[in-house]
Amino acid sequence: MDLWSIELNNYNKNNMKKSETIFALANGYRGLRGALEFSKLGSRGNLIAGVFDKAQAQVTEIVNCQDPLGFNIYIEDEIVDLEQCSVDSFRRILDMRKGLVVTKITVTTAKGRTLDIKSEKFVSRSNVHRWASKYEITAKNFSGKLFIENYIQGSVTNSSCDVMNRTKHLKVTKCTDINPGIAMEAKTSDLGIGIIECTTIINENNTFKTRKYSDFGEMVSEAYETIIKQESKESIYKLGVTYTSRDTENDLYSTALSEINDFIAAGYHREKEMHCSVWDKIWDGIDIEIHGDDKAQRGIRFNLFQLVSSAYEGDNRISIAAKALHGEGYKGHVFWDTEVFMLPFFIYASPEVAKSLLMYRYNTLKGARKNAELSGYKGARFPWEAADDGTEVTPKWGVDYEGNPLKICTGDEEFHINSDIVFGIISYFRATGDKDFLKNYGVEILLDTSRFWQSRVEYNKEKDRYEINSVIGPDEFHEHVNNNVFTNYLAKWNIEKALYYKEWLRKQDEQKLASLCTSLCLSEKDFNQWKEIAEKMYIPTNNDGTIIEQFEGYFNLRHIEITEHDENSMPVWPKEAKLDRLGETQLIKQADVVQLMLMLPEEFSDEIKRANYEYYEKRTMHKSSLSPSVYSILGLSVGDRSNAYKYFMKTVYTDLEDNQGNTDFGLHGASTGGSWQSVIFGFAGVSVGKDGNLKLKPWIPEHWEKLKFKLNWQGSKITFSIYQTHIEIGSTKFITAVINNKIYHVKENSNLLVKMQPEK
Ligand code: BGC
Repeated sequence: MDLWSIELNNYNKNNMKKSETIFALANGYRGLRGALEFSKLGSRGNLIAGVFDKAQAQVTEIVNCQDPLGFNIYIEDEIVDLEQCSVDSFRRILDMRKGLVVTKITVTTAKGRTLDIKSEKFVSRSNVHRWASKYEITAKNFSGKLFIENYIQGSVTNSSCDVMNRTKHLKVTKCTDINPGIAMEAKTSDLGIGIIECTTIINENNTFKTRKYSDFGEMVSEAYETIIKQESKESIYKLGVTYTSRDTENDLYSTALSEINDFIAAGYHREKEMHCSVWDKIWDGIDIEIHGDDKAQRGIRFNLFQLVSSAYEGDNRISIAAKALHGEGYKGHVFWDTEVFMLPFFIYASPEVAKSLLMYRYNTLKGARKNAELSGYKGARFPWEAADDGTEVTPKWGVDYEGNPLKICTGDEEFHINSDIVFGIISYFRATGDKDFLKNYGVEILLDTSRFWQSRVEYNKEKDRYEINSVIGPDEFHEHVNNNVFTNYLAKWNIEKALYYKEWLRKQDEQKLASLCTSLCLSEKDFNQWKEIAEKMYIPTNNDGTIIEQFEGYFNLRHIEITEHDENSMPVWPKEAKLDRLGETQLIKQADVVQLMLMLPEEFSDEIKRANYEYYEKRTMHKSSLSPSVYSILGLSVGDRSNAYKYFMKTVYTDLEDNQGNTDFGLHGASTGGSWQSVIFGFAGVSVGKDGNLKLKPWIPEHWEKLKFKLNWQGSKITFSIYQTHIEIGSTKFITAVINNKIYHVKENSNLLVKMQPEK
């Protein structure tokens, strides 16, 4: 079976939303959910990165823009609608190698006319403003009139399937006949962001007899009429272009018109060729080959494909949403998922994208400062959920596991996001050595987040220690907790890094540091206080120091054993657990202490890691897709190999098997990144040592014959092939690597072979 494709071989109208996510196509600029043209079911989505609006919604959300995919087929007086026809055969293929979705359907209408429809679609990676589809329509048992309707639907809302939250963000401002082709301009309600969708139809054999343009206000269409003969085929191309007023200061209509004319001149095939060749190059840099495990191979490629599809380096005012560009879930908001789960992939696979993602945080510092100010603190407090400007956009209300209204406190209490962003910056710098970024942008974030921590910590005089009280750590089952280790430890680390890189900047560019200190109102007095805070930050543990107490008082909570697992090997709620009182138990939603040990591995000994991994694994419900990969990687580092593979496959198949049950709403971006991390940081055992060297400590599952991948490291490209018996490393530049605790040098453009150590 092809290891480059994901296939769906039956039409199930109840699975429409899930498959719209799986078959979504995106290019970082925008995402088009994989809606079927010939069905009105599902929840269609045209999401353009950075187009946010609030209107009547609870909080600012990504806008579901006017839908340019409209394409209807009529035979005489019958519309081809999968709900009204019999679907005789159905096959959908996501061709990940080329970035195409191919759909092959045979349908019979109520009046017994059978047609084959084959379509192919791509969202161009070569020119992010372009996308296209090709349709081949074959009349199997009839001849007659064929009408094609090419249309753009403007009566689009967000949350179309959720009547209590349905919101209209767009107002159609103009429809235009660009014969051949149609255009629709719309504006968002708050900021008035202009969006134009423009699409045209090309008929391969020029068989169209009549054309009719119609402006229905919220829908614009061009319809064509032709005659189709039995056993003959009509080939039709639909080309589309998209621009927003975020992309250009020029008039949107003339920009789109000139783009579509260029696209028509180049043609479908030329654009497709360029698009596929970009994907070729991308795959050359990012592919992970897993020989001996087809399921893992196909699954990891799906994650890589979707992760790469979710970002591009062309706009540093955008980042990757938790649900990427694949659905409206979490309102298109950006979480720590980006810096902690997805960014590592970009750091090692496309550092320019990683930089752009970090620049998004820099560019939203103003909002982060506003957040701090509004809650009475200083410095910058990045939002737990972010949209376009860095202000906090976490909703205040949601529903709990049982559907009851639930006050959401994460936006007020989940402060660790600040340190997570700093973690991203430091990881980027360690791997790329990009001094320019650190000097001009990174240090400012380090300093201003530390300034926030300085104002947020509380000094406990009696115990002579600094505390951070009333917070939510990564485990969101427990709210308003005091001294969450993850938060405290990373805040301390955040401050230490700020102090270290402040001195670094002094050496690089004293003037720059001086002007930063002036603009951020920082003096030696502050730095001295930071030192004290870092030294005296309270970190709870147990009496013998092995098990780290997730937060103060956690050990006193009720321990409930997880005994059952579902068909996806995910923990089942223990019977005694009351879902509205989880905070009273030791059950946790996702990795928390274990997450910390993964992010700062050099801070904890193997014994401590093992003990905490074992302790918390028994208590983790994995109710977040962020969790399994963390246990997979830390498990490997402490020798739990059987569970590591299980957790790895859980992560890789999060969306393909829908094991969190909510793929309908979009991709689990964090688990795409977690999948990559499980292979690279987990099985290959890649890490960066305290000495700054790249380290490798691989173990691959017994049935894997070979694991091959490439990484960018300090400007060189390194290829790793890991076999059961040996490792091969090739590098484009001289590098030093520590493999299984021994130092090796790889010469420029040469290969090194290292025998695997026999197990002790
Ligand atoms: C998790 C968070 C995560 C968010 C977005 C929540 O369920 O608890 O850690 O950032 O989902 O993916």
